[in-house]
Parts: sequence; structure tokens; C-alpha cells
Amino acid sequence: MKKITAFIFLCLISVSIFAKPTPPDEGMWLLQLLKDMNYADMKAKGLKLKPEQIYSINQSSLKDAIVSFGGFCTGEMISNEGLILTNHHCGLGQVQFHSSTEKDYVTNGFWAMNRSEELPNKGLFATFIIRVEDVTKQILEGVTATTTEDQRKKLVAQNIKKVGNKAIENTHYKFEIKPMFYGDEYYMFVTETFNDIRLVGAPHGAIGKFGGDTDNWMWPRHTGDFSLFRIYADKNGKPAEYSKDNVPFKPRHHLPISLKGVKKEDFTMVMGFPGRTQQYITSFAVKRIMDFSNPNKIKIRDNRLKIYDKYMRTSNKVRIQYVAKQASVANAWKKWIGEVRGLKRLKAVNKKEKLENDFEQWTKSKPDNLQYQTALNNIKQAYQDTEKLFLATDYLNEAVFGIEVIDFAYDLSEAETTEAKKNIATAFFKDYYAPIDEEVMAYCLETYYKDIPANLHPDFFAKIQAEYKGDFKKFAAYIFQNSALVSEEKTKKLIESGGDLKNDVAYNLLEEFMAKMAKDIRPTMQKSTSEIELNQRTYVKGLREMQKNKKFYPDANSTLRIAYGKVNDYQPYDGAQYQFQTYLDGIIEKENTKDIYEDYAIPDKLKALYLSKDYGQYGEKGRLPVCFTASNHTTGGNSGSPVINGEGELIGTNFDRNWEGTMSDIMYDPDRCRNIAVDVRYTLFVIDKVAGAGHLIKEMTIKK
Ligand code: ARG
Ligand code: ASP
Repeated sequence: MKKITAFIFLCLISVSIFAKPTPPDEGMWLLQLLKDMNYADMKAKGLKLKPEQIYSINQSSLKDAIVSFGGFCTGEMISNEGLILTNHHCGLGQVQFHSSTEKDYVTNGFWAMNRSEELPNKGLFATFIIRVEDVTKQILEGVTATTTEDQRKKLVAQNIKKVGNKAIENTHYKFEIKPMFYGDEYYMFVTETFNDIRLVGAPHGAIGKFGGDTDNWMWPRHTGDFSLFRIYADKNGKPAEYSKDNVPFKPRHHLPISLKGVKKEDFTMVMGFPGRTQQYITSFAVKRIMDFSNPNKIKIRDNRLKIYDKYMRTSNKVRIQYVAKQASVANAWKKWIGEVRGLKRLKAVNKKEKLENDFEQWTKSKPDNLQYQTALNNIKQAYQDTEKLFLATDYLNEAVFGIEVIDFAYDLSEAETTEAKKNIATAFFKDYYAPIDEEVMAYCLETYYKDIPANLHPDFFAKIQAEYKGDFKKFAAYIFQNSALVSEEKTKKLIESGGDLKNDVAYNLLEEFMAKMAKDIRPTMQKSTSEIELNQRTYVKGLREMQKNKKFYPDANSTLRIAYGKVNDYQPYDGAQYQFQTYLDGIIEKENTKDIYEDYAIPDKLKALYLSKDYGQYGEKGRLPVCFTASNHTTGGNSGSPVINGEGELIGTNFDRNWEGTMSDIMYDPDRCRNIAVDVRYTLFVIDKVAGAGHLIKEMTIKK
């Protein structure tokens, strides 16, 4: 009897194990492969659509509602009159561009109350994906076992031109052909780009940036991180440069919006343009990121941020000038901190090493494949050879180009015409405050001097020692007194008179760094990068052969992807459980107007609506939902992406991840990695009730 009970009990356990597999939610999948690769899994998790409703080249599908917003974010079409929903932080550059101390849209928000008030944005574009194709065979045509890496690159470049141009012949489309799995496969994306994109609305800064950098990358979150734009096209619906005669674009598909709300475990998917992940890097690479690269970059940004902060607190003008710069510097800084912690906690290096050991074992069953056998060692060697050079490259990017005038000098030197130079200068000086940059220069040069080996120093460092007794502040003061490039007037005079940049002291610093780079850093770095690329390709190819039953997705590379998972909470640390949804009540709880940044300030209108509980159709049992978390695998570039339910309706706009999960770019943890979205009910509430822009709601397709 006992035996039988035990047997039944065991069966029950195993049934429950097998009946409820919780496949992890990792992965950013290519849309045209979805049908064969993920559809069954998605359906099991709650997707109600057919694969053709997500991606099709013959009929309109979800993909037709998704745009790459300016190449750095994602946006979605939410009306048949070209309305784009994206994040506040994605449109902030434009909002800021239209702002001044008199018309401070960054702080007060901006709402076009009719079409004629919508503001054009030079340089901003929105790109649709028309179709995706596997073009591996055509792109690798001519590549054989004996082709060298250099020859391969040339062949690939030639083939890309040929195949791409053929694909867009006689159309207004463009194309992009991107390597996947380090160039083992190639995919072509045929695209359509619109250039007349106008600003329609952005909430009050205290809503759009609520929580500021204090809450950035964190959950629980209460940010109304959204803004609205509109695509304009010519009368035939084709892309056109800005013109008063352009009309709102009618997209092939726009997302219906659900007011039904979200429950735990609800199916969700995110479509968008994730920028960059490194899921298949080796333990050597992970170690470098954790031990050197991130900690150094964090340190440098820490100091730059402190300098920005000091000046922004004392001048409103400077605060407006630097708000977007500071946000972008702080953003990566905070992410890197979370990434290092997450990798440590996941024991990422151990996990990678274990996989590498398995791989080495497995290659023994492939005695005639020398490439597989040497791949890992070659990668390791390349990492060892470039340790110091890599460090210097990080410092060039972070410290040297973190000095604004150096970055500006570089842009000027690259611009070809006087006109272009003048435009660059105008844009630069609008948001430039030289005293900040002078302090940044003193710090950045000094840290490069101290942390980078002497053989990689530019020559002028010797002069700082000899003439300034190592006083970098004095040296920076000298540069700022003598360079034309820190004054708008002098710069414009220099440009107009056709003056040579070569006589400018700030430009000379750039030149010396560039010379050093070209002579002592770049050649070896390029060789090693190429070596790593080749061997990573081999290694990942081997991994895919070794783990036959595992589904592999290529690293993010700014191409259109879909991630799917579910609305879910998580345990941030032992003893705590976070909930998946936040409410307006939480905004009121966080209120704290003492801080000059007013990270937790609340606009009067929002507070009044809270007090009167006037949530209209957007509330839920007397409360107003604000943000939620789900387990979709996302990364930078996914900001602004739609979070879509199983019926294909919009439920939120993705804008961030949780701090405990930012290592997902390198290693995904299904227990802790979460994406964060603004609940679409909050978005509509702000548009309708706070901004009084109800005319926009009328354009949308609302599902109650
Ligand atoms: N962390 C988000 C992303 O990577 C949002 C960044 C904007 N917000 C900010 N406070 N800096 O883009
Ligand atoms: N906030 C990011 C973005 O701007 C999204 C992320 O990294 O999760 O794309």
C-alpha cells in the first residue's frame, strides 16, 4: 500500500513537472521565423493571433504598425492618421529643441491643439519594415573554406550592395542587410522611411520624467514616459521632406488600444528595434566587462555627472541646456552599475566557463574540425593581447570624447561645407556652457593620464608635466582662454574666414589623441577585433550544433524583433516581493518637492484629479494604474516599443528595465529580468484629463 501511494505521489510530481513547463521568456526573435520557431509556444502562453497577423508581406499585419523612431527608439502607430506613440525620453531631444526659457516645454509639456500647431523636426525620421528575407546564400557567395577574413569582408560588402540594390530597384524603398550570429547568417530588411515627423504632444516634465534619474532603471516606477508625434506624407501617401502641403500618413495598420487592463501571467509581446546585446560572448569578455570596462566607465561618468550637477543646481538656464545631456550620461552610468551587480549575482563567469568546458569536451567528438578546437583559445589570446589597448579605447570614448569641445572639434573637422559647419556650431552652442566643460576637461585629461600606460599618452601630456607642473586645471584654463571653439562668436568667425582648425589649441588636443590612436592603438585593436569576430562566429556555430534542441536567437542589432512573455512580478532580493502594477497613489506617496530637480514633483492638475478621483474610463476600482512589469526580453532601442496583448491590442509602452535585470544584455535571468511599461490607461488619462487633448483620443481605436 505504502509503495503504491509513493508511486502515485511520484507520478503526480512528475506530471506536475512535465505538465507545467515554464519555458524561460528569454529571446528576441526574428519575425519571419516566428511561425516555425515560436508560434506553438506563444499560442500555449496565450497568443490569440495567427502568425500572419503578426508578420506578413501580403496583408497588413502588426509589423506595419511599428517604426524605428529616429534610429534610436521604437514607435507605434495608434491612429489611421499617422499618430506615433513613443517614449518621453525618446522625444525629449525634440521637445528640448523647441524649448527656451520663455517656452519651456521640457518643464511644462507641449500639446498641439490642432494640426497646424504640430511642430516639424529636422533630421527626425520614422522607418517601417516592408519585408525581411534570409539572404545568407547570396551574401556569402564566393566565400570558401580558404577565404581569409579580409577577403570575406570585401566579398560580403560587394554582395550586400548587389543584392540590396536589386531588391529595391524601381521603388522608393531602402534596404539594410545585417549579419546575424557574427556573420554566419545575413538578413535583408527592406524599409520605407518618412522624414516629416511632427511633435504632437509631450506631458509635463514632472509626469514624463517623474522619478528622474533617482528612479531610472528601477521598479516600483511611476513615470509617464510617453510622447506623441505624427507622420506626414505627400498627397499620395509617399515619404516626402517637410512641406506645408504634406498630409497625415495613413498607415497599413495601427494598434487598437485596450482599456481592459492587465493581470498577472497575461500574455504580452513587445515588438521593436532592440539595439545591441551580447548573449554569446565568452567568459573572458564577461570578465573584462565586470572587472575593468564597466567600473572605469562608471568612475569617469560619476565625475562628469557631479560637475554637471553642481552647475545645473545654480542656474535655470544651464539646467535646461544640460537636462538631456545629463540624462543620457546618467542613463548608461546607472545601467552599467546594475549590470555588474546582476552578472555577479548570476555567477555569469562561472556559467560561461562551464559552457566553454562543455564545448571543449564536445569538440573532441569533432577531431577533424580544427576551427572548433581552437576557437576559444584564439578568443582568449585576442583578449589578453588587447587588454591595455582596450582600456585606452574606453578612455578615449568616455574621457576624451566626454569633453564636449573635443567632440565638437571632431564634428567640425568631419563637416565638409561652411554651411554644414555653421549648422553644427549653432546647434552646439545652444546647449553649451563652457565652465562645465573646462572642469570636465581638467578631470578627464587627468584621469586618462593616471590610468592609461605612458606609452599610450599623447605628446602634450609631457608638456602638462613640464610647463604646468601636472596641474590639469591650469592647463584646461589655458585651453579655454585660447581656443576659438569655446565661443560661438569666435567659432563662427573662424568658419566664415575659412580659418584652419589646425591653429586651434583645442583642436590640437584632438589631433594628438587621434594620431596616437592611429599609430599605437587602432592597428592592433582592429586585428584582434577581426580575430574575435571570426572565432566567435565559429564558436557560436559550434554551440548551435552542440545544443541541437535549443532555439537560438541572434543578438540584437537594431533590427525588428519580437519578444514575448507575461505580465509578472519578481523578487528583487531575499525577503521581498515586488508587485507588477503601480498606481497614481504611489506618485502621491513619492511626492517631495524639496529637491531642486523635483524628481517627485507633481503638477497641480494631476494632483487635483487625484483628489477628485476623476479617472474617467481609465481607472480601475477607484485607482489609476500607472506602470507595469512583464518578462519580455528587451534592451536599449526597445524604448517606445508597444507592449501588446494576446489579441494584438496595445496595453502599454515599453520604456525601461529593472535594475536587478540589466545584465539581460549579456545573460538573461527569467526570475529577475523584467521590462517596464507605462500602462496605456495612464497615457490616455494624461492626454485626455491632464492635458485636455481629448481630440487625440478620438483618432484612436479604443477597446473597452
Ligand atoms: N533607462 C531608460 C533607457 O535606457 C530610460 C532613460 C531615460 N531616463 C532618464 N532618467 N535618464 O533608455
Ligand atoms: N530605456 C531603454 C531604451 O531607451 C530600454 C531598455 O534599455 O530597457 O531603449
